[in-house]
Amino acid sequence: MLHLEHPKTGKGLEINEFWLRDHCRCGECLNTETNQRRLDLFDLPSDVRALQHNWEKRAEEEEQLVVLWSDGHRSIYTSSFIFDSQLEQLISRRSKSTTLTTWNRSIVLQNERHLRFSLPQLVASDEQVKLLIAALVRYGIIFIDDVAPTPTMTELALRRCFPLMKTFFGEMWTFSDRQDHADTAYTQLYLRSHTDNTYFSDAAGLQALHCIEHSGDAAGGENFFVDGLHVVHELKRSYPAAYELLCRVPVPAEYIEQGEHHRHTAPIIRIDPLTGELLQLRLNIYDRAVFDTLPQQQMAEFYASLRQLLQLVRDEQQQWQVKLQPGSIVLFDNWRVLHGRHAYSGRRTMSGAYVQRTDFQSKARTLGIIE
Ligand SMILES: [Fe+2]
Ligand SMILES: [Zn+2]
Repeated sequence: MLHLEHPKTGKGLEINEFWLRDHCRCGECLNTETNQRRLDLFDLPSDVRALQHNWEKRAEEEEQLVVLWSDGHRSIYTSSFIFDSQLEQLISRRSKSTTLTTWNRSIVLQNERHLRFSLPQLVASDEQVKLLIAALVRYGIIFIDDVAPTPTMTELALRRCFPLMKTFFGEMWTFSDRQDHADTAYTQLYLRSHTDNTYFSDAAGLQALHCIEHSGDAAGGENFFVDGLHVVHELKRSYPAAYELLCRVPVPAEYIEQGEHHRHTAPIIRIDPLTGELLQLRLNIYDRAVFDTLPQQQMAEFYASLRQLLQLVRDEQQQWQVKLQPGSIVLFDNWRVLHGRHAYSGRRTMSGAYVQRTDFQSKARTLGIIE
């Protein structure tokens, strides 16, 4: 380990020498055009040592650490590169960079004006798109209004913000009570709060729904949304043992139809190992596969924990009920916000799409909204 002291603040830092050699930013070690590394791990001696190191400062520039290595290489690092590239800094940047507002029904109702965007304004202004994505990061749900109720205009509105995710449902999908897929969504039945795609190795990051038609003897069909982040915080506070168990036990989910068989197994609550915060809530009672990933002796505890989570999710205070109207798209974070629907009658057609989590985050990152 190399002991460094920050040239300005005097803050000490123990640095692994191999890490420092591996992070040389020179053009020989790093392709500065593509940001990709040039060196393999085995190109460096495993016992590489710094023979000499000292801080240098030229004129108004930032202090730089110059290191002469035992393999004959010479590296130069800025002080901010070294001190900012440490775990402690990463965690503090993450917690500072994203302001999340967790909500129940009364909180979201007070903030509803922050969630509404208009398609003509989005088309005219990149700043509006940025505000939309910032609100989506913060609340996990937004609406795009003034959209003609057709699949084409729904697609145009969504593509203004994100590329669409292609799945076996297609890129844009339309569902009604005519059963095109082996899924309860394609019926008139009541649908309890859930997240989609628990059976995919990478569930859709965002989901969009646009009710483009509800006619005939039209009744019911109200959607409801629940902030999974809020619920998971409640669970952790009220039932810590249940929270811990649901973070740990892998639960398999499955989707089967002609020509398709998707299965994915992971905990219901996935936690970011660095920050300890919720990464993904995978909660779908319908898409659970045969539950063979836990010994029978532990089943009682598992079901009790899941029941505690479901009780919080189904609490009236948590549910935000919204009647989706032709003209408004709802777009929500499928890793965070649960959705459900009341049974309905009449003829109802939904147009929708998914966005990959990685595309959602990439867009938010390039706009400086998240770390
Ligand atoms: Fe769904
Ligand atoms: Zn180098």
